[in-house]
Amino acid sequence: MERTLVLLKPDSVQRRLVGRILARLEDKGFSIIAMKMMRVSRELARRHYAEHVAKDWYPELEAFVTGAPLVAAIVEGPQAIRVVREMVGATNGLNAAPGSIRGDFSSSRQMNLVHASDGPAAAHREIGTFFQTDEIHSYEATIRPWLRAPTED
Ligand code: CDP
Ligand code: MG
Repeated sequence: MERTLVLLKPDSVQRRLVGRILARLEDKGFSIIAMKMMRVSRELARRHYAEHVAKDWYPELEAFVTGAPLVAAIVEGPQAIRVVREMVGATNGLNAAPGSIRGDFSSSRQMNLVHASDGPAAAHREIGTFFQTDEIHSYEATIRPWLRAPTED
């Protein structure tokens, strides 16, 4: 089982796509184990996007993610980090494959609706950046026997 951080960026909220995007992840079989709506501060944006802070496009990205509320969630399931990234699609919505979230709903490089952690180290760090331990709700998914065979992990 893996956990990954998913952000439904402000464009998802403004475009009323939160429910449809979360539904795709739930439909796949993933569990939402933490979720909150929040306004991201500049400090939090810089911590989350530390690898991009020096890029020339960072100020615009920061204005975008801090400019209106977003929804942060932790998504749990088998190989969740890789699978959610693939469901999200390529960074630029114009390049993202049809069938992916960005491919189906975004025509932008910046306003691409969703963030998903890109590996185990990033997932661990980003979950810690957005959530306190007592905001994370581990629970038994009673549907589990109908999602995967007992011999699958
Ligand atoms: O989100 P992802 O990992 O696919 O892309 P990234 O290269 O790590 O960039 C992080 C985010 O910065 C993207 O999701 C875009 O919202 C934004 N971005 C941008 O505004 N302009 C760019 N040239 C590249 C990325
Ligand atoms: Mg990235």
